[in-house]
Amino acid sequence: MSLESVQQYLQSHQQEAVEQLQELLRIPSISADSRHRADVHRAAEFVRDRLQAAGCTAELVETAGHPIVYGEWLGAPDAPTALVYGHYDVQPPDPLDEWASPPFEPTIRDGHIFARGATDDKGQMFTHIKSVDAWLQAVGKLPVNVKFVIEGEEEVGSDNLDRFLTAQRERCRCDVAVVSDTAQYGPELPAITYGLRGIIACEVKLQGPKQDLHSGVFGGAVANPINVLAQLIASLHDTEGRIQIPGFYDDVLELTAEERKDFAALPFDEQEFCESLGINGASGEAGFTTLERRWARPTCDVNGITGGYQGEGPKTIVPARASAKITCRLVPDQDAHKVLASLEAWLRQQLPPGIELTFKSFHGCPAVLCDRNSPYMAAARRAVATGFGREPVLIREGGSIPVVASFKQILGVDTLLLGWGQNTDNLHSPNERFSLEAFHQGTQASAALWAELAKP
Ligand code: BES
Ligand code: ZN
Repeated sequence: MSLESVQQYLQSHQQEAVEQLQELLRIPSISADSRHRADVHRAAEFVRDRLQAAGCTAELVETAGHPIVYGEWLGAPDAPTALVYGHYDVQPPDPLDEWASPPFEPTIRDGHIFARGATDDKGQMFTHIKSVDAWLQAVGKLPVNVKFVIEGEEEVGSDNLDRFLTAQRERCRCDVAVVSDTAQYGPELPAITYGLRGIIACEVKLQGPKQDLHSGVFGGAVANPINVLAQLIASLHDTEGRIQIPGFYDDVLELTAEERKDFAALPFDEQEFCESLGINGASGEAGFTTLERRWARPTCDVNGITGGYQGEGPKTIVPARASAKITCRLVPDQDAHKVLASLEAWLRQQLPPGIELTFKSFHGCPAVLCDRNSPYMAAARRAVATGFGREPVLIREGGSIPVVASFKQILGVDTLLLGWGQNTDNLHSPNERFSLEAFHQGTQASAALWAELAKP
């Protein structure tokens, strides 16, 4: 049978696949950092070249930001078409001194490959290129048509992707999208994710007096921007962990009783969870479990804060300014624009005299929920079971992948979120890693998916 020869081909070419992944991981394609523009481009070229070597047509599509790699193999006219999305850009690697090996010198230890982007998303994305490669080398054709959209701006909000999908809607037409940029549920427990949270992001700047002032001469008579910022931040939550922005929960889709039951049935050790994070207890919105809080409840988090004197010893000033970066994770059916507007209004209405606020919004995307009972989902479940030797569980996740909502809105398709990573892979953190076993299992699952999707 042809899948068997693909499986054997993958088995005997594992080393080569790992070496190619290492080559990709050596490229510091940090999309947020303009000094790495050329590196980001080089990573796009690498992906294009690997797609071409596999037997697909592939090209770079330049955008106002970083290029999108578009590739396709359309040799199965009567079969369905899957569109694989992934990203070749990575998060900045800092803090550098917390890495055991340099972030762009991929190193294999303890069965894992350590590098920035190992799991998010170079390693996961690459499994689909290698599975297509294996079908085309071992069998000469695929059971389905496959398209690839691999972008370089996911970690900075996918600003140019919607324009691409809208302009190239015909070219991107497909029956289902496939994304591997999430995680398994746990060690040796593969998962398919049917829901993701959305996000809004903003920066709030407070300007007080035109320059820093002596806090003895002026303190008490002039609003202190840092004190005010702290009050504004404190006003985001009540003591029960509920967000106090007026109207914030208006459109929140509540969990169904069935989902709550399904979440509760998943193996979850709260103590182990806390220990793995180095905290002595979990905390959040009252009335919800940790999994519910992470996957299906909205949040408001301050991501960074600046202001005032940071040097050695004391300094008696009323600082001139302060700022904070804030993100909210959204759940279905919250509207990103509406939440952003109500957050800004809530902050503005609390300002004392003497403080001016500027509010800048960044990227945003809505949350998504996919059909748990579609035939594509059934095919994906069988494929993951084949690749990992174990039935996957169905879960939601708390992270955001903006393109999934775009696929629904622009292309009208659901996405299969097939995560090969682990939440312990340190994504966005020092010592990011990806299990080599998961890399190979994911590639096998991907290879099986093409066969499963072709079954009526
Ligand atoms: N791969 C993650 C998203 C993710 C992680 C989903 C874990 C589910 C589980 C992705 O690369 C990411 O980090 N996305 C950003 C999106 C943002 C910049 C718009 C995120 O969620 O912060
Ligand atoms: Zn990612």
